[in-house]
Amino acid sequence: MQQKIAALRAALEADRAKVADKAALSAFWQKYLSKNGEVAGLMKGLRDVAKEERPAAGKIINECKAWAEAQYQELAAAVEQAELAARNAAEAVDITLPGTPRPTGTLHPLTLIKNQIVDVFAGMGFEVFEGPEIEDDDHCFTRLNVPKNHPARDMQDTFYVAEDIVLRTHTSPGQIRVMDRGQLPIKVLVPGRVFRSDSDATHSPMFHQMEGLVVDKGITLCDLQGMLDKFVQALFGPEVKTRLRPSYFPFTEPSVEVDVSCFECGGKGCPLCKGTGWIEILGGGIVHQQVLKNCGIDPGVYSGLAFGIGIERIAMLKYGINNIGLLFENDLRFLQQFQG
Ligand code: PHE
Repeated sequence: MQQKIAALRAALEADRAKVADKAALSAFWQKYLSKNGEVAGLMKGLRDVAKEERPAAGKIINECKAWAEAQYQELAAAVEQAELAARNAAEAVDITLPGTPRPTGTLHPLTLIKNQIVDVFAGMGFEVFEGPEIEDDDHCFTRLNVPKNHPARDMQDTFYVAEDIVLRTHTSPGQIRVMDRGQLPIKVLVPGRVFRSDSDATHSPMFHQMEGLVVDKGITLCDLQGMLDKFVQALFGPEVKTRLRPSYFPFTEPSVEVDVSCFECGGKGCPLCKGTGWIEILGGGIVHQQVLKNCGIDPGVYSGLAFGIGIERIAMLKYGINNIGLLFENDLRFLQQFQG
């Protein structure tokens, strides 16, 4: 029996060294520790042992069994460890690898310009107000001092939605809506889409404006020019200047057309400014007294300034875009050139 046990121990130790995974572990258990395994086989062999030797033989068989089980437990723990280590190695993520870059969008050039304009005027204390794109005739024209059948209505080719309902042709109805709130003084910007039946290389039936309105005591054209100087310098460079020329709008008196000194040639004259040294950029003026009255504001006490900036026009000048259609085609090759 002792010999048999010694042989079993030797075989078990040799097999043990070869067990590397769960399948081999289970085969190991089958071979030595199952009901028909080698250790049980030793037990069965007890029958052939002389009766007086059986207790001693039984004892050493039990010792061998306990030893074999301990071997198995150790082995099982080692296999478990090894498998865990292998899995950790296989599933490990190298956090130092660079990620896969995802393409990001860019702000539309019109949004960039709009944000810049808002930034400049916010710095001067302006707030942003937005009005509806579908307007009634009253806000879009009549209360802005453009009565029905007035020839000034022809200045803007209007889309009619219904008898007295239009797609706003400018952001100026925002002036009326802000003054109707009844809070003074006023310092607002009204950005938004506007619509006119007009289409060529520099006109689109839908475009964007930024209205400005200030109503307070003692507002003059000097305030207008001072604010617009800040605006053009922020967008076109610190050296540019503005120039006011007399113009006409029904809702401002006096009305002005505002030019900026050519930022391309510095005023010497070039193709961009058509040799004049100046580029027209926006319209504005002193709010017409009738418009103040139409909104219940006493022109004897208050005065106002207003201006309307065409956002496409500023974007085209600033970025050298010669066809307004490019701004609306959404061609990524075009849009990706404006990385903020
Ligand atoms: N609303 C005018 C336009 O669209 C621009 C403007 C705004 C002029 C405010 C004067 C004052 O042409």
